[in-house]
Amino acid sequence: MKIIRELESLKAERAGLKGSVGFVPTMGALHRGHLSLIRKAKEENDHVVVSVYVNPTQFLPGEDLDRYPRREESDRKICETAGVDLLFMPKTEELYHEDEVALKAPAYLGYILEGNRRPGHFDGVVQVVMKLFGLVQPTRAYFGKKDAQQLRILQKMQEDFFIPVAIVPVDTVREEDGLALSSRNAYLSPLERRQALLISKALKRASKMVMTGERSVSRIKKEMMETMAPIEVEYVEIVNRDFRPLSQIELQNSIILVAAKVGKTRLIDNIWL
Ligand code: PAF
Repeated sequence: MKIIRELESLKAERAGLKGSVGFVPTMGALHRGHLSLIRKAKEENDHVVVSVYVNPTQFLPGEDLDRYPRREESDRKICETAGVDLLFMPKTEELYHEDEVALKAPAYLGYILEGNRRPGHFDGVVQVVMKLFGLVQPTRAYFGKKDAQQLRILQKMQEDFFIPVAIVPVDTVREEDGLALSSRNAYLSPLERRQALLISKALKRASKMVMTGERSVSRIKKEMMETMAPIEVEYVEIVNRDFRPLSQIELQNSIILVAAKVGKTRLIDNIWL
């Protein structure tokens, strides 16, 4: 595996990769969730490129940019063991320019739910992913369904800008007890970790209600809020695949989304029905 920090080296190495290239963009602190993206990329492509870059433009002032976990050594080992060809760790000075062209996330999709709580967050995501796509020129790019809204926005960016890449959604990986894997789980104390389980418990409860015939979004949301009463829920929303709110569950076209704060840590999770 080659570790690449300079854009010129990335371009040269990329030019040498013949066949398909699977790309897994990450912010590092890699866990089994990222590993499942890497494994899928490995299965479906001749080569795999992983980027590790904590992108400052997607953090709002006062968010956790400075304390976001950075684990270069273990990220390197995980990528090496997983058979990654290129591990790309760009530097901000090279990636961003003065007075540059700025992309904006879609006015609706980019500013509801996560985008409403974190206005401008998705502008930063599309900006950096567009740059990374331009540099890596992947055949396929892999994103987790846990960041459902990010995934939809990036699919939209690909469609709107006719980018020749296939966006591949990958299922959320969970701990045995249901907690969705996230780099931010590292912030949780043992007590908070137990409280965080209420999120996946509420989602499981909702899925059971749907399986037994419940279709009313308000009844499902009420039940979920009761399950999560001990934690600070920011939102529970049930939307279709285009993130339009639903009043009745539509099978094969509904996503239940939760954002909640456990202690100081903000967590998101969802299920796709
Ligand atoms: O999902 C993430 O880790 C980030 O938002 C991404 C896509 C790597 C862009 O910085």
